[in-house]
Amino acid sequence: MAIKNVILPPNEIPKQWYNILADIKMNPPLGPDGKPISPDALAPVFPMNLIEQEVSSERWIDIPEPVLDVLRIWRPAPLTRALNFEKALGTPAKIYIKNEGMSPPGSHKPNTAVPQAYYNKIFGIENMTTETGAGQWGSALSFACAQFGLTCKVFMVRISFDQKPYRKAMMETWGGECIASPGPTTNAGREALAKNPDTPGSLGIAISEAIEAAVADTSGKTRYSLGSVLNHVMLHQTIIGLEAKKQFEMIDEYPDIIIGCAGGGSNFAGLAFPFVYDKINGRDVTIYPVEPRACPTLTRAPFVYDHGDTAKYTPLLPMYSLGHNFVPPPIHAGGLRYHGMAPTVSQLAKEGLIEPRSVTQMDSYAAGLLWARTEGYIPAPETTNALALVVEEANKAKAEGKEKVIVANFSGHGLLDLAAYEKYLSGQMTDVVLPEEDMKKSMEIFKDYPLPEALKST
Ligand SMILES: Cc1ncc(COP(=O)(O)O)c(C=O)c1O
Repeated sequence: MAIKNVILPPNEIPKQWYNILADIKMNPPLGPDGKPISPDALAPVFPMNLIEQEVSSERWIDIPEPVLDVLRIWRPAPLTRALNFEKALGTPAKIYIKNEGMSPPGSHKPNTAVPQAYYNKIFGIENMTTETGAGQWGSALSFACAQFGLTCKVFMVRISFDQKPYRKAMMETWGGECIASPGPTTNAGREALAKNPDTPGSLGIAISEAIEAAVADTSGKTRYSLGSVLNHVMLHQTIIGLEAKKQFEMIDEYPDIIIGCAGGGSNFAGLAFPFVYDKINGRDVTIYPVEPRACPTLTRAPFVYDHGDTAKYTPLLPMYSLGHNFVPPPIHAGGLRYHGMAPTVSQLAKEGLIEPRSVTQMDSYAAGLLWARTEGYIPAPETTNALALVVEEANKAKAEGKEKVIVANFSGHGLLDLAAYEKYLSGQMTDVVLPEEDMKKSMEIFKDYPLPEALKST
């Protein structure tokens, strides 16, 4: 009988994270003067222990025991073979998922929320602020802050705030506060509303609001937290891929294809980076980050230096970007509506170590529905993007008659995203592909950002 769930024994939970900065060369973040910023410049925004992790190039970094204690609530997470999904597709491919939907908030996000709350706590911080797109990250940080006795204020992108009221209730259940973004409490929010009172909001605007709220507290007891994009977030997420590697070893298998949806890049990085390490060291493996055609950062945008947020509070980061003013069309995968991409993921794409792909919203929901009807779990809208590419690759394997081993990150469940499924099922969902003119318009800002020599040569 084929194995369904590969369960890692509890004592096999990884005790160290993998830091890809040990193995790739990166361009530094730049300040407003165009010069590399010093880590101290970030001190009003993040605690110094996390800033040290952000710039560390140590390959292996110990996971503190109190962090492991909380992660053990749901980790190790199962590696699951999708036997019924395979059968429905009639593919010779073996399809596995790493199920990150089993955490208390329902996604991979607490893998970094927990260590971030912990490092803030031991640094003496009492309050945290953040943004959230789909609501998964805000829920995760609220949960993590409850574990370590911190307050948590979440700016939630308005379209998701309206679409998913129970995410707010979830955050409040864990003691967090959730407000719609843009809103009237910050300069960044007021400016965005003045420009367009009916804006659906964006992650870029919500990030600006949350940073502003953190630095406005002059007591020094509040810091901001980002749920994706930054190096330390990617680092914390590598527990996913490190577990997966051990699980593949247990069944004497190794994937040919690795797939993760990419918004800011963190769940993709979490699964993929430990395998990228193998690829750098000569292993033959194909690695696909996949994004929505409505927000095609890696597949259509240029590699530039750009801000991570709309109000330009963050340093300039070397990444693929649609422009920090870009407000993505209101697709249901709110967590994939981000104008930029993690610098580490961007760098790997630039070097050809990973191969970005894109899928449509309709294909994603079709794949999500097939998954739910065969494998049971209802995927988050973001996760359906990964599943759409799994379907494409499984069909390709079928056409070629090849028994490929595919693993995808099941980044979250969609139990609070059922309004979107309802729309799909009632025939009201449509595809959104970003028109070329909209892209050109949002990228006009780059004429004000001449590329530094450092980037031109990479
Ligand atoms: C379930 C889920 N998957 C994926 C993402 C995308 O984020 P990232 O690319 O950082 O994993 C999000 C973000 O909100 C999410 O909630």
